Amino acid sequence: MRGIILAGGKATRLYPITKGVCKQMLPIYDKPLIYYPLSVLMLSGIKEILIISTPKDIPRFKDLLGDGQDLGVKFFYAVQDQPRGIAEAFIIAEDFIGQDPVCLILGDNIFYGHDLVKDLEEAASLKNGAIVFGYQVKDPQRYGVIQFDRNKQVLSIVEKPKKPKSNWAVTGIYFYDNKVIKIAKSIKPSKRGELEITDVNNKYLKQRSLQVKLLGRGHAWLDTGTYDSLIDASIFVKALQEREGLKIGSIEEAAFRMGYINKDGLLRLAGKINTDYGSYLVQITKEIG
Ligand code: G1P
Repeated sequence: MRGIILAGGKATRLYPITKGVCKQMLPIYDKPLIYYPLSVLMLSGIKEILIISTPKDIPRFKDLLGDGQDLGVKFFYAVQDQPRGIAEAFIIAEDFIGQDPVCLILGDNIFYGHDLVKDLEEAASLKNGAIVFGYQVKDPQRYGVIQFDRNKQVLSIVEKPKKPKSNWAVTGIYFYDNKVIKIAKSIKPSKRGELEITDVNNKYLKQRSLQVKLLGRGHAWLDTGTYDSLIDASIFVKALQEREGLKIGSIEEAAFRMGYINKDGLLRLAGKINTDYGSYLVQITKEIG
């Protein structure tokens, strides 16, 4: 399975914070926001990852992440020059995806949860159809919202409805078979001028090949779209890390735990980070050995 991180957009809702720096580079406590979705892809077993961003920001992502070799993975880069929607990612990534299935994660989505890795690994073995994840939120009108029938079967997904029919939002991680490229090419831009991922999902639903997995209590899907949610996410990460002594969203740790790099590889990375973050990586090599 191939992975895509979409890290485009202007994030005008966070201005002036995001006027000079893109949202996915902002710090969430002790690491850049993009580390969180990136570590999720890596923990799902995905090693070939395309990062899609604006022409302005691609060089910055290259500075931050390089080619992935020191993490035992491969990073590729592609440009989305205008915010034409999430589903355009599959058209941009057509050559990169080739004949494979693909997982797309939004570069500003933070996931945390005990069984999450198991769920994601399962999803990453997908061969046919699509899998999306639902999460209960207080403000569903900001998201793609799942509409259920009386038997909890999914009827449809509605993008940012004024009157949501449930509190279940579709999160920003999506797994698709190779047909997604064709489907993305077949949909028309919405009123906001974007190729909507929700339209892609509804196509799969119509073909009875969409699985919607609901993430229950014990999972966290954090928002980073407002000033408040941004700082709340930092506080959440800080509190959990301090309590457990384990980091959330460390790409170096993910690489080591997944066996993409060995102890020496992790120590090399740790040696370049002269902070508590680096000491933490050294500590891990001692614990897991
Ligand atoms: C996008 C999708 C929406 C989804 C959300 C998850 O919203 O369009 O369906 O629920 O991501 O983060 P946007 O980022 O375009 O507001």
